[in-house]
Amino acid sequence: MPVKITLAATDSLAVAADVSVVGVALGAAPRGGIVAALTRKLGQVVTRTLKREDFTGKRDQVAHIVTNGKVRPQSVLLVGLGDQPLTVADVRLLAAKGARFALGARANSVAVTLPAGVEGAERAAAEGLVLGAYRFTRYFTGDRLPKVELERGFVLTPAGARVDNDGRAAVDVGQKVGEAICMARDLINEPPNELYPEVLARAAATVCKERGLKCTVFDEGALEKKGMKLILAVGQGSVRKPRVVHMTYTPEGGRAKRKLVFVGKGLTFDTGGICIKPAPGMEEMKGDMGGAANVIALMAAVAATRPPNVEVHGIIGCAENMPDGNAYRPGDIFGSLDGKSVEIINTDAEGRLVLADVLAYGRSLQPDAMIDNATLTGACVVALGPTVSGWYSNREDLAERFRRAVDLAGEAMWRMPLVEELRDGLKSDWADLKHTADRWGGSITAALFLREFVGDTPWVHVDIAGPSMANRAYNVYAKGGTGHGVLTFLRLVDEFAGAPREEAPVPEVVKPATGGGRERPAADLGGKPSSRPR
Ligand code: BES
Ligand code: MN
Ligand code: ZN
Repeated sequence: MPVKITLAATDSLAVAADVSVVGVALGAAPRGGIVAALTRKLGQVVTRTLKREDFTGKRDQVAHIVTNGKVRPQSVLLVGLGDQPLTVADVRLLAAKGARFALGARANSVAVTLPAGVEGAERAAAEGLVLGAYRFTRYFTGDRLPKVELERGFVLTPAGARVDNDGRAAVDVGQKVGEAICMARDLINEPPNELYPEVLARAAATVCKERGLKCTVFDEGALEKKGMKLILAVGQGSVRKPRVVHMTYTPEGGRAKRKLVFVGKGLTFDTGGICIKPAPGMEEMKGDMGGAANVIALMAAVAATRPPNVEVHGIIGCAENMPDGNAYRPGDIFGSLDGKSVEIINTDAEGRLVLADVLAYGRSLQPDAMIDNATLTGACVVALGPTVSGWYSNREDLAERFRRAVDLAGEAMWRMPLVEELRDGLKSDWADLKHTADRWGGSITAALFLREFVGDTPWVHVDIAGPSMANRAYNVYAKGGTGHGVLTFLRLVDEFAGAPREEAPVPEVVKPATGGGRERPAADLGGKPSSRPR
């Protein structure tokens, strides 16, 4: 059961919670609010502890005070907030740290006190508590099962502030957004024998059904009829056949001014196929559906936040890449939904093939913007490390909006350039395109391949190969599947929902996805990476 969060106007030291988490701004210690209050109740032990731990309120410092029954919470966790203005991302992180600490301390309940003066703090705190309290224990038995569940979370209003309906509603939305991201994590952490394309598609359909979203699942027959030959090629070596799922959120009144399409790579397992991967670490490829999991989570989150004015489509391409007598091979040539023919070079570069067909489908909806996310290349992890995503865009106005969404969400993503010189590497002697170029710039050439299938649609591609899974908990993320990306995409939806029509980018006429669309926008040679990775 997920932790249940409530908003309360209780004091940090009076709240009926095992752990009480309070942020402390730099310099506020030792005289400021919480420290003074704690000292009044517990005596000089507080200042001695803070001194011993060298706690001054610097960002990311923590100090743990055991209260020995002198106040209701058994422990108080002080977390340094630094001296810069706080953002909702800071509040989310504060709550996540608190919940993670409470989980480690086998606490039953946790409270986080809202720092004053941050708009939207209630929702962010609830999100953080849910995200920090996450763990995946589904396959444990006996001793491995956790003995204590973190059941209750409290978001405490700053001193003097009241609990009102808006605040309560914000906490409720935060809880739902947090749970949506945790659902992405669950899907990523599920083993590949349990979660195969049909199961992932069913999970998406269930999410939609429970939340009143429209959902269509295309099975292998439907994919054949549609002409999605590339996703079928990738999946043909597996007995678990591919699926494409199209989920739709329509705002109240049904008259959307904007249309967004989100696309996710859903490889429920990637062995590499005939170009099989080395055994060490191959088990991690159960998470090669992280992009699809994010899109499902985003749709669940959008159903909770109900943004106005914007229609949101989520489309996932689900397949399993296996070596087999019927598997696709290097040298094969396939058509695609777009019409272009593709020569297969390396069967381990399967993600871009799946995405090519799904992007061509998404483009036919004529969206104002199309955003794909995928655990696409090891090269992106080499470039940016395991905690930072690389993103690409063919439009500067959309790139500006995306950059803003990244910053507001507080996720670590870095803009990468679509280097035109590398496009030559995708020329094939035998087909319109080959799907891989040589080794250098592997994340960029993957993006250039995808660009061939989006036509004139304003587009962002996010390579989440690094941060989609983590080998330890950090930031608001858990070990294993993280759901990295969902918060950013949700912010982007808000950008489009809030923008008056005149200010939004005016899309050019987009032709339906049958051939054509070969004209490319002017060169977009980066040199101006965007958001600060944190
Ligand atoms: N799913 C992998 C990429 C990946 C690697 C994701 C590590 C997460 C962690 C993708 O399908 C793949 O195998 N890409 C190849 C492409 C190459 C064959 C051109 C890669 O990155 O090696
Ligand atoms: Mn692969
Ligand atoms: Zn893959």
